[in-house]
Amino acid sequence: MNYRNQILQGNSLDLLPTLPENSVDTIFTSPPYWGLREYETKEVDWANGWTGELGREPTPAMYTENLCKIMDATRHALKPEGSLWVNLDDSMAKKKLDKVSRKSLVGIPARFQIAMIERGWVCRNMIIWHKPDVKPESATDRYTRDYEHLFLFSQDNKTLFWVNSVTGQFVTKQPLGIQGIEDSDWRWVTCRGCWGKGCNKCKDLGKKKRTYWEGKDYYFEQQFEAYAPNSDVSYRKIIRAMKQYDTKEPYKDNMPYAGVSLKDYEGTGAETPKDVKNRILQSMANDARPGRNKRTVWSIHCENYKGAHFAVFPIKLAEAVIKAACPRYVCSGCGKPRLKLYNTKSVATRPGKESKYPSEIRSETLRKRTVRIVEGATYSDCGCKMKWEPGVIMDLFFGSGTVGVAALNLGRQYLGLELNPKFVKLAEERITEETKQGRLLKHI
Ligand SMILES: C[S@@+](CC[C@H](N)C(=O)[O-])C[C@H]1O[C@@H](n2cnc3c(N)ncnc32)[C@H](O)[C@@H]1O
Ligand SMILES: [Zn+2]
Ligand SMILES: [Zn+2]
Repeated sequence: MNYRNQILQGNSLDLLPTLPENSVDTIFTSPPYWGLREYETKEVDWANGWTGELGREPTPAMYTENLCKIMDATRHALKPEGSLWVNLDDSMAKKKLDKVSRKSLVGIPARFQIAMIERGWVCRNMIIWHKPDVKPESATDRYTRDYEHLFLFSQDNKTLFWVNSVTGQFVTKQPLGIQGIEDSDWRWVTCRGCWGKGCNKCKDLGKKKRTYWEGKDYYFEQQFEAYAPNSDVSYRKIIRAMKQYDTKEPYKDNMPYAGVSLKDYEGTGAETPKDVKNRILQSMANDARPGRNKRTVWSIHCENYKGAHFAVFPIKLAEAVIKAACPRYVCSGCGKPRLKLYNTKSVATRPGKESKYPSEIRSETLRKRTVRIVEGATYSDCGCKMKWEPGVIMDLFFGSGTVGVAALNLGRQYLGLELNPKFVKLAEERITEETKQGRLLKHI
């Protein structure tokens, strides 16, 4: 049985133990929310004695327990470095519940998050999926809810492997690091305590060894986003870093693109602010700095999939998860992912001692400011010399197959679990329609 690009029909809790061990790189899923809809699925017998469809449990505690059971059952199929992403929303109590008043939020995401942490999952992020085009609500005595939760869990915090950001080497045994060879395991960097003068921390050397090896406890590819709009600070930092812009105090008068100016740029042979701006934008586009580390509030428009299924999450949400968490390349020999490694260098944001401005020469704090610039990227390599294959992302509640569409479009593989046979068929049709790979298969 091939467990790639397939939909398996059945209850996730029953299917998970039948999957091969370590066969999945990532999981992204959105379960039926508590007390909201019925998916006309087969009734399931649960260990706590209750029989019914997930999400219809009489109490939030029972729902959380059933949901967490399913999550725990994924550990067998999910590779140790694989992460688990769960999209969940809260519900309002429509009637009085045990310990929850009518009209109150039930606190489902919070209950789930705590239960998962207590079961040993490492909650790395709680992302707010903000829905700018959320459906209006009739309530006038509270705000309209326009977000859902997205939890990112890793399985453990033990270092699983190390990667060398310069050679790309990938090892599962702790490398020598600063005990190793200069320039391939480590390099000298200026001591931050004394800036070269010598102090206790650097044993008066003025420099310290820095390892090229990074330990990783799960697979995550850093994601970047654009700097905040109008964040002149970032532009200024880059300008200063490149030392191509004459820094003047006070900084306010020194905006790189302050609009029309009466200064004689041509006469003095200087660049106009507009040219400077363009050059900087160009260099940013050239990945000099890919942007800032991605934040945890994601604004993504809801999409209406026209098929018979409801509660579909947007393809863009699935794509964002896949890019960060599902490797594009996995070794077909050892099953380990390739990691994208950025080679960065740190550059001073001020001219420092060479500055014409006495305040900069005097101020050690100003001189110390640095910005990291990306010089290039490489991929880690496990050294097996076997074929690379795309990572597999699994969805435990596949529905209309959004994860499948996103996975194929991004050159990954999917595995879908879905209880309702009607949705299995629907998802198969959707994947065929909406992906190039699917369309190709149709014509074979
Ligand atoms: C919120 S929907 C998922 C929607 C999906 N993310 C999409 O974009 O289309 C939840 C799905 O889980 C399915 N489901 C419910 N209980 C299940 C179970 N025990 N095992 C597997 N699937 C189940 C439902 O039939 C439904 O299709
Ligand atoms: Zn020092
Ligand atoms: Zn390998």
